[in-house]
Amino acid sequence: MKALVEQLKSTVAETKATDIRAAFAADPKRFSRFSTTFEDMLFDYSKCAVNDQVLAGLEAIAEAGKVAEKRDAMFAGDAINITEDRAVLHTALRNRSNTPVIVDGKDVMPDVNAVLEAMGTFSDGIRSGALKGATGKAITDVVNIGIGGSDLGPVMATLALAPEHDGPRLHFVSNIDAAHIADTLKLVDAETTLFIVASKTFTTIETMTNAATARAFIAGKLGEDAVKHHFCAVSTALDKVAAFGIGSDRIFGFWDWVGGRYSIWSAIGLPLMIAIGKDNFGQFLAGAHAMDNHFRTAPLRENIPMLLGLLGFYHRNVLGYATRAILPYDQRLSRFPAYLQQLDMESNGKGVTLDGTPVEGQSGPVVWGEPGTNGQHAFYQLIHQGTSVIPAEFMIAANGHEPNLRPLHQLLMANCLAQSEALMKGRTLEEAKDQMAAKGLAADFIEKIAPHRVFEGNRPSLTIVYDKMTPHAFGRLIALYEHRVFVEGALFNINSFDQWGVELGKELATGLLPVVEGKQSADGHDSSTAGLVAALLAKAAG
Ligand code: F6P
Repeated sequence: MKALVEQLKSTVAETKATDIRAAFAADPKRFSRFSTTFEDMLFDYSKCAVNDQVLAGLEAIAEAGKVAEKRDAMFAGDAINITEDRAVLHTALRNRSNTPVIVDGKDVMPDVNAVLEAMGTFSDGIRSGALKGATGKAITDVVNIGIGGSDLGPVMATLALAPEHDGPRLHFVSNIDAAHIADTLKLVDAETTLFIVASKTFTTIETMTNAATARAFIAGKLGEDAVKHHFCAVSTALDKVAAFGIGSDRIFGFWDWVGGRYSIWSAIGLPLMIAIGKDNFGQFLAGAHAMDNHFRTAPLRENIPMLLGLLGFYHRNVLGYATRAILPYDQRLSRFPAYLQQLDMESNGKGVTLDGTPVEGQSGPVVWGEPGTNGQHAFYQLIHQGTSVIPAEFMIAANGHEPNLRPLHQLLMANCLAQSEALMKGRTLEEAKDQMAAKGLAADFIEKIAPHRVFEGNRPSLTIVYDKMTPHAFGRLIALYEHRVFVEGALFNINSFDQWGVELGKELATGLLPVVEGKQSADGHDSSTAGLVAALLAKAAG
């Protein structure tokens, strides 16, 4: 792999691949040569530093990294999460074709369908008002208590599919900061509120603590007996949920072969289903399933997740770009960058390969972003003129959900396209000077100011276009990014499905709790930690 990466670096230099502006000038067909479609999704990567030789190099890298074999092993239910000895089968949760998916000799599809059915019945009951609170009132507000993968997916998806939201109001509590639950409880009426406790392990301290606070809220307002009417749970740890006092008819299970950050398709999606209804949720699953089939079967040059993953690897390991910006031109995708941060950085932020040796080159990049056009007025300055090259990933619908406000959508589209064009074309010193001269500005002023108006250009971006952000299109988009993370992880030769890197902080927090409670001394901690503890306790004591 190392040799192929070095070879590709030479190819880039020899073919001047990073001169994207020149490549466009030389080839009027560049867009059609370096873009592809799936259903109504268009994937344009012509504004990246690619040419036929670079793509051939990336194909060789995909082959050397055995991406296709690894992909097939994932879909087949092999235990590819080797550090936890688990299969990785979030794709089974959206397997709308219902073909058998075998784990340890057993077809998991009957269980998957049974949970989906139970979720549908429960969410219908909440949405219709048939399932009521303890005092006989219908549920108007649902509070999901979870964190990480048990929060980010439902929050992000509920925002994204707001036009389909016709169920009760949704609220999300994740942070252990008391502010989060306190502010949320102020918004709801105990009599008409359902709490969903969402935790794969049912041990996560933030979720368990917030759930206990919510339980005390209901018991305090309506009595202990009311708890069973106002709580339900989503977890793989069914025994622990039962111990919390939630009846089996209100527990929605999933399985250890569903990673937390890949769990939106499971019962973790219950708040979304309650918001948009089971039919829309089915469309959401169907969109992801369509992308799964595309990923499995499309030839590499037409395979959008493969191309997106290869470009990610190329940007990180060949061109050396340390971050990538996710820039949805869709206000309702405002939490999509945060969702992708967990999906990508928790999956591919690893330092050792599958056999425990250090990763060659770099693993996953920093992922960040905000919706356009807001970002344009904040951090785009650095993307255009800063000293770091940041590949930008734009996404935009051809149609908004507000046809009566079409001119706003036209402005949104114009801005999205303008940004990628500006990044690619830039503005030379000559062009800057000519523009200023055309405005009649003085020669010495032009000389002084023109360098500040230069845009290097040749800054890579890719653009994903779709008809409209429907549940189907949305499921397809998330699945696309899941598979891109898979492709990159396969090339880094890491396990993208564990997260040991979050453990140390959890362990130390457990040890520090009695210290900040004042029950134990800070002896044994480093002087900074001990000094900070002393300062916090002194301030708390007033
Ligand atoms: O701390 C990281 C993590 O384990 C994530 O991977 C997971 O999504 C999150 O915590 C929440 O875990 P759980 O669903 O078990 O509460």
